[in-house]
Amino acid sequence: MTAFGGTDFSAGAAFIDGAYAPIGEARIPILDWGFLKSDSTYDVVHVWKGSFFRLEDHLDRFERSVAGLRMTLPHSRAEIAGILTECVRLSGLREAYVQMLCTRGVPPPGKRDPRDCTNRFVGFAIPFVWIADAGQRARGLHLIVSSVPRIAPESVDPTIKNQHWGDFVRGLFDAYDRGGETTVLVDRQGNLTEGPGFNIFAVRGGKLFTPARGVLLGITRRTVIELCEEIGAEVEVGALAADALGDADEVFISSTAGGVMPVTRIDGRALGDGKPGPLTTRIHDLYWSKKEAGWHATPIDYGDAARARAGD
Ligand SMILES: Cc1ncc(COP(=O)(O)O)c(C=O)c1O
Repeated sequence: MTAFGGTDFSAGAAFIDGAYAPIGEARIPILDWGFLKSDSTYDVVHVWKGSFFRLEDHLDRFERSVAGLRMTLPHSRAEIAGILTECVRLSGLREAYVQMLCTRGVPPPGKRDPRDCTNRFVGFAIPFVWIADAGQRARGLHLIVSSVPRIAPESVDPTIKNQHWGDFVRGLFDAYDRGGETTVLVDRQGNLTEGPGFNIFAVRGGKLFTPARGVLLGITRRTVIELCEEIGAEVEVGALAADALGDADEVFISSTAGGVMPVTRIDGRALGDGKPGPLTTRIHDLYWSKKEAGWHATPIDYGDAARARAGD
């Protein structure tokens, strides 16, 4: 148990309104527009083997998202990095899913003008989250190309990480009804976009393809592109027709919540020989081995937590 002064943070730790709390006790005021109107933005960075992965890149994207929604963070970038580190340190988690959020806040009584709100920052660390479980990662996911269209990027900008998940959640239920495990949504032009919490890649003739438009510019997507440069694999970032996905040699998804994860069935049909493909496996293995070796790592000093544990 990780306990500080008798408080158990082992299920996760949160920071809200200037104080740290066990994750199960942290509360957001119900009048905050982040809750009432999905008027918020967030980012997720993970911790693996006691180090953040690409922390500065996640902070960069978070700051861009906050500015994009015309919000102002109540803390400096260095303070936010410190708060996130403290959440992880309190939890004692060596593998963690670490979220930073900025919500619009609560308007003054009787008013509805977002300019009158004081924006709120929330941070938390919980155990690592995987989009695909161990069995799914070994055999590959069954992906359904959804009949639910992705919210248009002109309405909700997907490059600003947001909580407008109505289309994704409908898409997930659609996928479950059709025997699948997850889903990818399509835009009005019939091109693939992204899925609930991930970007998508297809491989054809040794070349990789990933959608350019209508997607979050995923940090794992960028990591995959960098790994492809390293191994000399060509990546085309452009339009990817949804109805051609089933003809790909390989498909995989990318996310902070699990890295590189293979897809081996699409709409009920096996892709190729039905096993994770060679390029997917190569990129997956390189992703994990480079992370193990400290690539883009920001180590966390757990010193006090270890001392507190020893004293508990
Ligand atoms: C909609 C969406 N697309 C893509 C991603 C993948 O982005 P990243 O690799 O930065 O985690 C996420 C991450 O949660 C997401 O929510």
